[in-house]
Amino acid sequence: LQQFAYIASHDLQEPLRMVANFTQLLADRYGDKLDRDAKDFIGYAVEGAIRMQTLLLDLLALSRVGTRGQDFEAVRLDEPLGSALENLRFAIQEAGATVSHDDLPAVMADSSQIVQVFQNLIGNAVKFRSAEPPRVHVSAVRTGDEWTFSVRDNGIGFEPQYAERIFSAFQRLHTRDEYPGTGIGLAICKKIVERHHGRIWAESKPGSGSTFDFTIPAAGVPADYAPPGVSAA
Ligand SMILES: Nc1ncnc2c1ncn2[C@@H]1O[C@H](COP(=O)(O)OP(=O)(O)O)[C@@H](O)[C@H]1O
Ligand SMILES: [Mg+2]
Repeated sequence: LQQFAYIASHDLQEPLRMVANFTQLLADRYGDKLDRDAKDFIGYAVEGAIRMQTLLLDLLALSRVGTRGQDFEAVRLDEPLGSALENLRFAIQEAGATVSHDDLPAVMADSSQIVQVFQNLIGNAVKFRSAEPPRVHVSAVRTGDEWTFSVRDNGIGFEPQYAERIFSAFQRLHTRDEYPGTGIGLAICKKIVERHHGRIWAESKPGSGSTFDFTIPAAGVPADYAPPGVSAA
């Protein structure tokens, strides 16, 4: 599956780009000769091609978790969290969301993969918002020999019976019309967390927000580790 996903998403990009480009060209060059229906049909074709492009890119990202991972190093998770928030700046602004967080500890991790985890979880928290302005909180709790990180929101929530299913690729509880997406984000999170020897799970109820938790082992961070910019005592 790993190899299939990789090859499929690689080799399908090119022909798909052709479909999208030439359909777009048709619209641009012959637009004034086409009637309303023909223009609508072209619009659907372009939309379909773009959606498939997004799917393939997501699938590629999923397959790269295992093949393109970096070595683990000590990282204070504030740092990848900061990058994720930066990447989500417009979505956060547009939704009028407030994202707060605890001081996060250092763990042994692939920082750019942790960016993806926070970005997917916080992106979901903002996307699946209720009528209230989204409030998202990221916390960290030490439990024995691991850290549990939580992303809690006040969004629409979901039925607890779906809490496991949503971590499989393409599993979505909402239609694309309601909330855009491909249903791969949480599958990527799960694969990344498992690569870090952790677990990920969700708790929710419709209307009372959701909490996504993941663990990362606490061991392995050098005792004298001081994050960049902070001098050791
Ligand atoms: N914070 C959340 N609140 C409510 N539902 C969520 C949340 N995060 C994920 N979900 C549900 O889990 C599904 C899968 O999430 P994900 O894999 O990120 O896919 P996508 O964001 O593309 O829909 C979503 O479609 C949604 O139904
Ligand atoms: Mg998502």
